[in-house]
This record gives sequence, structure tokens and C-alpha cells, in this order.
Amino acid sequence: MKIPFLDLYRQQKQTLSAIQRLLNEVMLQDSLLGGKAVRAFEDSFATYLNISHTIACANCTDALEISLRALGIGEGDEVIVPANGWMSAAEATCLLNAKPVFVDNHPETYTIDPEKIEAKITSKTKAIIPIHLCGYPADMPKICALAARYQIKVIEDCAQAHGAAIDGKKVGSWGDLGTFSFYPTKNLGGIGDAGAIVSLDDALAEACRQIASHGQVEKNKHIRLGRNSRMDTFQAAVLNFKLGFLEEWNERRRALARKYTEALKGLPIQLPAEQSGFHHVYHLYVIQSDRRDWLAKELAKMGVGTAIHYPEAVADMQVFQEYTKHDTPIASKQSAQLLSLPLYPELENDELEYITGCLQKLLK
Ligand SMILES: Cc1ncc(COP(=O)(O)O)c(C=O)c1O
Repeated sequence: MKIPFLDLYRQQKQTLSAIQRLLNEVMLQDSLLGGKAVRAFEDSFATYLNISHTIACANCTDALEISLRALGIGEGDEVIVPANGWMSAAEATCLLNAKPVFVDNHPETYTIDPEKIEAKITSKTKAIIPIHLCGYPADMPKICALAARYQIKVIEDCAQAHGAAIDGKKVGSWGDLGTFSFYPTKNLGGIGDAGAIVSLDDALAEACRQIASHGQVEKNKHIRLGRNSRMDTFQAAVLNFKLGFLEEWNERRRALARKYTEALKGLPIQLPAEQSGFHHVYHLYVIQSDRRDWLAKELAKMGVGTAIHYPEAVADMQVFQEYTKHDTPIASKQSAQLLSLPLYPELENDELEYITGCLQKLLK
């Protein structure tokens, strides 16, 4: 059997005719940018998250930078970010001349370790950006309590966690601001780049909307410096359509993850953690092994595609060397040991059984 790590064509085949109709509608009846579908998606995504504001923008990296700008973060400020995850949070911080301060990841949940944050807070700390990595929520109750105590703002990076929640409260609605990516491979993916900022705070949401639109409060009235970060109307129409399937797709991901966990328990590998009340949406199903590279090679020989998220911890990247203190060993270890197995709603049960069978043969 040949099973790719990810096969987007399976979803695209199912949604193709509906999406072609949407393209016609946008081209013949809406504005290509800033059209009615953009506002419709903003409203439905806000309703889905149970939050007051969604600001559509071009991608999640922009969303993070716009959020930091809206909070007034700049030179001399420090922003706490996880040592392992995708690099946009640290990158956006540096682009504003602020300093990323890396906190190690938790050994089992792979998200920022809440117990290690306080030691890194200084009088310059202005924000924390937890990443809900692999679809698993960072420990928001602890992070928000700490942030409130030190009067630090929280921006949740929800790029990998559409629909994840803690005690029923969805990620994106815990912090001051939340950012989302709709990159095609995400749990809710467009057919191109797209992103969003969400917030419960009217003033912050308005600031983000202005910054994403050249600082305009209304057409041709620019009251601050901003930038151009737009979601195009067609992406918004596609996302609004796909949002209707998100819960079903997430449930399928969770069912496949349960099957993986059931079949793999007992093998000498670490499986994903799920704390009580934490709703994982399995953007990725990640296992940990000190024989990761060997496993990936053997699985490839057996026809099973895998991926590594990520081969280098953010805190270890050459580009962040001037900011790192090299005190995040768990993140470094994870970058050498984590392996992502195929997991997407369209993965067939017999494919999953083949993959778990291969792992059993290799590891027993
Ligand atoms: C955790 C995380 N944050 C941010 C991003 C950046 O998203 P975008 O590609 O939409 O800028 C990604 C994308 O992979 C991500 O996984």
C-alpha cells in the first residue's frame, strides 16, 4: 500500500463542484477583494468561535504581526514564545524590533510549558504567544492567570487548532487576541493563503482592522501607519463553505487518532497526550521516538509517508541566535524525536490499520 503523508486532492475532489460554483458567483456577482463573502465569513467564524470580532487578513504571519502592532509592541519590549513550533511568532516579534524570549515546551503536550513561563517574565515583558501546536490547546487557564497577574497581553497562535477547546471554550477566545491560518493543509484550509485575527475586545479589533488596511478608518482616511493584508473574496467564500464541515472533519480526525492510540499503545514510543477537558483537533498525530529517523526511513520503504514538525526548534534556529539562551533542551530533543503520521479526514480505516501494522512490525 502507498499512503502519502497528506493527500489534499481527496478533499479537493469532494468539494470541487461546490467551489467552482463559488468561483463563478464571486467573479460574476461580488467584488474580488473586500466583497460580501469576506464579511459573511468574518461573521460566521466569529459565531463559530463564540467571539465578537473576526478580522480577515492575508495569512497568519501577518495576523501575528498586526496583533503585536495593535498592542503597541515594539523596540525594547519582550514577547514570550514557545521554543518549539512554527517560527512566525518569533519572526513577527523580531520584525517589530522587539525581543522573543523562548520558553521550553512541555515534554508530553508539546505546547509551551506553563510552569516555565514565570521565570522568564521581566519588567519588559509585554505579551505571551502560546501556540496550540498540532491541534492541542496550550494550557490557557494557567497562561491567562499568569498574564493577568503580571498584566501581560496574550495572543493565541491558533494556526493549527481550528475548533480546539478547553472545557468547551474554543481557542482564540481565551486571550486578548487570537490568530488563525487558513493555509490549504490546515484543519480549515483555503485554496491559497488566508488568515484571520479574532478578539473579544472592540478597541483591539478595530486597531487590527485599521492596521490590516493601511491605517484607514474609512475609505481614504488614514489615521495611522498600517499595511495591506487582505483576504481575497474567493478565499472567504471557500472558507465559509468549508466551515460547515469543520466539526465533522475534526471529529473524523479525532476518531482516527483514537484508532492510532488504541493500536500503538504498549509500543516503545510516546503517544499524544490529552488532559481532561482539553479538546484536541489533531491537526497532526505526532509520536516521539529516539529512533525517529530510522522509523521514518523504514516506514517510507513500506510505502508510508511521514513528516517532521519541525526538524529544528525555533530557539535553535540560526536566525534567532542573538535571542536564545540555549536553555530549552526539551524543545531541542523534540525536534530530533517527533514524527508526524498521516492523519486527514479522508484517510481510510484500512490505510490506518496498514500504518499501525507497519509500526508494530518495526517496533515489537
Ligand atoms: C503554528 C503556526 N503559526 C503560524 C503559521 C503561519 O501561517 P501562515 O502560513 O498563514 O502565515 C503557521 C503555518 O504553518 C503555523 O503552523
